[in-house]
Amino acid sequence: MMRRRLWLDAAVAFCGACVLGFAAHAAEPFKIGFILPMTGQQASTGKQIEAAAKLYMAQHGATVSGRKIELIVKDDGGAPDMTKRLAQELVVNDKVDVIAGFGITPAAFAAAPIATQSKTPMVVTAAATSAITERSPYIVRTSFTLPQATVPIADWAAKNGIKTAVTFVADYGPGLDAEKFFISQFKLNGGKVIGEIRTPLKSPDFAPFLQKVADLKPDAVFVFLPSGQGAAFMKQFGERGLDKSGIRLIATGDVTDDDQLAEMGDVALGVVTSHHYSAAHPSAMNKKFVAAFEAANHFRPNFMAVAGYDGMHLIYSALAATGGKGGGDALLAAMKGQVFESPRGQILIDAQTRDIVQDIYIRKVERVPAMGNQLYNVEFDVQKAVKDPGKAK
Ligand code: DHB
Repeated sequence: MMRRRLWLDAAVAFCGACVLGFAAHAAEPFKIGFILPMTGQQASTGKQIEAAAKLYMAQHGATVSGRKIELIVKDDGGAPDMTKRLAQELVVNDKVDVIAGFGITPAAFAAAPIATQSKTPMVVTAAATSAITERSPYIVRTSFTLPQATVPIADWAAKNGIKTAVTFVADYGPGLDAEKFFISQFKLNGGKVIGEIRTPLKSPDFAPFLQKVADLKPDAVFVFLPSGQGAAFMKQFGERGLDKSGIRLIATGDVTDDDQLAEMGDVALGVVTSHHYSAAHPSAMNKKFVAAFEAANHFRPNFMAVAGYDGMHLIYSALAATGGKGGGDALLAAMKGQVFESPRGQILIDAQTRDIVQDIYIRKVERVPAMGNQLYNVEFDVQKAVKDPGKAK
């Protein structure tokens, strides 16, 4: 009798330990480490993505399959050395399950080897040079690529009476992608590029470059500048009278960025751009997204915000697919091939390239009476399910 009692006690104690052990495991948070430019020239990118990630958590709860989600946000100031150090610290010290963010291409390049070495999924929610996803098999992207956004505006330009163009891009990865793909597509459609201008990424003064455009007198100038530079560019474009020179301004949507569009004023009216997201996208899901984002933050979401929001969705669904277990390779496998509705429209994570496939809209800046008479990028045409043309075929 006594022996049996002892055995029972032992069994109960053992099971108690089991339950405790399981509870301790279940209570372990799932950590997402965002590395973003919260200060410096690209600070608006960090502000938009952090706000969107927090909104996603507020709307969908902070627990997935029994795991509490912990968001860690680190500021790299847009400096790649800092990005690399922070990625290392997040992986080694904080033991994060996923790294995310990366405001500019050099920052994404700097973190890629850390993702590979530690087998940590790296969700790129901003940087947009085509080659980024090739730098690590652990990279998945929810933003866009410059070739993807550029080819449709080159098509549109050639079909809309523009015969000569000058390219005008920021002199680094995404700008060089935009330049290359605009030139090849515009030429393919019979257009002629009569000048190629590159501006420095850091604190550019656009005046001398705009003078060159005025001198070359193309039918249109095609522009790519990173998020945050559009308003300064537009101001100088107007100050130099280029808006009244007969030279049409066309661009990727980074230039007529929703983050700055309202302050640009009439000089932006009529500018045609191509991009994957406009705050004025007329879907029910986007209307809800924009209303909730503006209520929480008192500013308009831009394309960076939507990529941050979708990045969180991708991570949440991957974690759920592993039943809350996580693990770098299992999460990565669950991210590949995901199809879901985003505020921008339906998106797919291509299982082969780990890059995003999405619709690219052609839009025109208009004052929209039904939306407070503010400036918006109003979509009027679309190329469906565009794959990154920058990937080797
Ligand atoms: C990149 C940064 C941007 O702000 C943008 O609009 C597009 C691309 C980049 O560095 O990859």
